[in-house]
Formats: sequence, structure tokens, C-alpha cells
Amino acid sequence: MTIAVAGLGTVGAGVIRVLDTHADLLTRRCGRELKVVAVSARDQTKDRGIVLETCEWYDDAAEMARKADAEVVIELIGGSGGIAKSVVDGALDAGRHVVTANKALLAHHGTELARAAERAGVALAYEAAVAGGIPIIKALREGLAANSFDRVYGILNGTCNYILSAMRETGRGFDEVLAEAQELGYAEADPAFDIDGVDTAHKLAILASLAFGTEVDFDSIYTEGIRHVSPLDFEFAEELGYRIKLLGIARRTPSGIEQRVHPCMVPLADPIAHIEDVFNAVVVDGDAVETTMYEGRGAGEGPTASAVVADVVDIARGRTAPAFGVPCGELTAPSPAPITQRTGRYYLRLTVVDRPGVFAEIASALKENNVSMEAIIQRGRAPGEAVEVVLTTHETRDDSVAATIDAIAESDAVLEPTRLIRIVSFG
Ligand code: NAP
Ligand code: HSE
Repeated sequence: MTIAVAGLGTVGAGVIRVLDTHADLLTRRCGRELKVVAVSARDQTKDRGIVLETCEWYDDAAEMARKADAEVVIELIGGSGGIAKSVVDGALDAGRHVVTANKALLAHHGTELARAAERAGVALAYEAAVAGGIPIIKALREGLAANSFDRVYGILNGTCNYILSAMRETGRGFDEVLAEAQELGYAEADPAFDIDGVDTAHKLAILASLAFGTEVDFDSIYTEGIRHVSPLDFEFAEELGYRIKLLGIARRTPSGIEQRVHPCMVPLADPIAHIEDVFNAVVVDGDAVETTMYEGRGAGEGPTASAVVADVVDIARGRTAPAFGVPCGELTAPSPAPITQRTGRYYLRLTVVDRPGVFAEIASALKENNVSMEAIIQRGRAPGEAVEVVLTTHETRDDSVAATIDAIAESDAVLEPTRLIRIVSFG
């Protein structure tokens, strides 16, 4: 089977390496040879440590997608539009199968691209777009096809999990650990996508569509990243019996599909609290199978290439499925449930002046908004100095907590914005 590869960075070079290293094994598994006939990247002179002599080079990746003599086009450039979209559009128009690792593109144009693939009678395959090396797309679409799903959630960004793990374990600073994740090839071209939760939201939009049979609905995802998580939060989390994780959570609720991405306090008793470093984990609740959990490396050359090549093998074997699990005409319009209606427990960290009456002001803000406190910790210093106060709440609504934080902000004893982390419980 002939293949064209657009993008030869961390993932693209990794794919060429896996196809080369396992050429014989893959030929036996597919019943035919997998042959890369064309490639495209920005810089033809760059040494990528891979053999490209037998491939035709294209400066213009979109031209390659339309014209190269390839049955499959693999898009590994990245970005939600621009050249990546031109490559995928061009390949589908020309009736070629598409494999991509580009979650940004799918989050923004997934439904439209799935329709184009369906019209052309070709595959739009994207196992590598979600959770790196974990075959979660295949699990949801095929292995669990007998189930109806009410919830899917997980740690979906390797860079953030790497940062949160390293900060907690070693006390190192955010910027230093992020630079390390970039060096290891985990981060997006713009790492703000990772740390601001956008990459997790891209992946969640895809998972939610697959799980609930809805059109991809990235725009309604509530998204918060990890920039505000401080070393103090790790200390308090440890004391309270939690780990801080950036989770993507999608749930079917009576008022629609809830999709949210934010840092969470996860109880230590929950297995997902112990997923560390670049590892991702996805938990799927199916009505027949009940809870299943998938764990593996969420980013990096090898794990991502593993997922891309698995898609290529499926196509070579003639095994393709509708991109989002059902024919596009069966996908239902999204009906988002707003996060303001979320009920749960909350961790709040306040920085206040240590002076008489401050607790009474905090208590009054809680009372006004009908929020019940579960526990409170104050790190004592000298009277008149800044002090950290952490409180956890009993079950309450997200909008009540937001109103409480606004009320607390009105006190002149409050020195910094109050930090909130949602406490989750997946029992
Ligand atoms: P990368 O290392 O930055 O590689 C991007 C590649 O695209 C480079 O080879 C670059 O060429 C090429 N490129 C850029 N603009 C181009 C253009 N106009 N025409 C042709 N080629 C162009 O990125 P990556 O980490 O491999 O990620 C690629 C895709 O995989 C992204 O969608 C990303 O979100 C996704 N992904 C990445 C990971 C991961 O762990 N890295 C995991 C899952 C999914 P030059 O090399 O010549 O500059
Ligand atoms: N930047 C992404 C991450 C790559 O860190 O998870 C894998 O999708």
C-alpha cells in the first residue's frame, strides 16, 4: 500500500522509523507491503535520522496530498486549519484514505471531515489524536460497541501530567519542567495549548462525539488549565489526601452533554490519582461492561507513531469504520449542559491578612451563597501578616461557589485572587 507523509517532526519521523524497523512484520500483518512513496516538510535539508531517498519530496504538502501516487495520506503537521486542513481536504477530495494525529483539526472540523470521508468512501483515521499510544478510539468505537455510555473522562495531556507530577515530586518550577517536556517532544508547537487545557479539550471533544454519537462540539467545552496551580496547592492536596490532575470529563446529564476540562483534586483512593509523568489514562463507563480504564504513554515519538501505524495497518487490511462510530447522518446535534449546574465539592485557597474578623467575613460569604464548609486549614504566621487559608466545601453548585469567591474578593483582607480546584469523586 502506498503512503504519503506530510510532516516529518517528532511524530512524522517516528512513523517513518516504525514503518522501516518493522517493515517485514507489518507486511506479514497486512498481507502487503507498506511503502512510503512521498513526503513533505518545510526544510528538505534537515537531518531527521531517517531514510528518505526512495521517497519523492514535495515542498507543498497540499500538492502532495492531491497529486502523489499514494493510497493513504498521513497528516502530521498540526494546527486546526491552514496547511494541515488543506492536506486533509485535498487527500479526501482525491479519494485517498487519511490518517492524522491532529486533534486540533478534528476538534474544529471533525464532523465536516468525517462527512467528506464518507462521501469519498475512504477512511478518516485518528487513533493518535487522543491519548497518544492508548488505543482508546478503537476501544470506544469497536471493543465497546455494544455499550451505551454515560461518562468518559481522563488524563488526556501528557505535558500537563508530566508537569504536575514533576512539580509535586521534585518541587521544581513550572517553567523548568515545561522546557523539559518540550525537549522530550511531548508539547504542542504552542505549549499554551497544553498548559491552558486546550489540547485536553480538543481530545475531549473527539471522545465525547464518539461516546455519545453527537457532532463534535469543541466550542461548548468549559476549559481551565494548570497555570494557577501552585506548589502550595500540592502541599495542601497531600495533607487533604488528594492528587492534582488535569482531567477532561464528558457526561450525559438530564440537561444535555456536559464537557469540562480543569484541574481536579482526585482522592488518593482513585486509581487515576496515581497516573504520573507523561502517562495518560481514560476511564469509560459502559452500561454493559461497566467501568473500564486504559493507561499508557500519552505523548512522544514512539507511542504516537504506534497509534498512527495501527491506523495504517487497519486501512491496509481493509478494516475501516465510520469516523465517529456511526454514519454522519446519524450524529445528533450537540446539546451542551453548562458547568454552572455542576454540583460537587470544592477546594478554595485564600491569601488573607491574619487579623480578627477575617474568618467571620469568609463565613458570611459562604452563608450568603448557601455554601457549606467541610474543613478549613490555616497556616499560622504572625498577626497582621499574609496567611494561606484553605477550605473545602460540602456538595454545592458551581455557580454558588463562583458567587462566594466574588463575595470574598470584596473583603479588603483578601490579598490575592482566591484559587479554586474542583474535588472529584467518580464512585
Ligand atoms: P513537530 O515536531 O512540530 O513537526 C511538525 C512537522 O510539520 C515538521 O516536520 C515541519 O517541517 C512540518 N511542517 C510545518 N509546516 C509545514 C508546511 N507548511 N508544509 C509541510 N510541512 C510542514 O510536531 P509533532 O509533535 O510531530 O506533531 C505533529 C502532529 O501530531 C500535531 O497535530 C500534533 O498535535 C500531533 N500529536 C503530537 C504528539 C506528540 O507527542 N508530539 C502526540 C499526539 C499527536 P520541518 O521539520 O521541516 O520544520
Ligand atoms: N501535546 C500533547 C500532550 C501531545 O502533551 O499530550 C499528545 O497529544
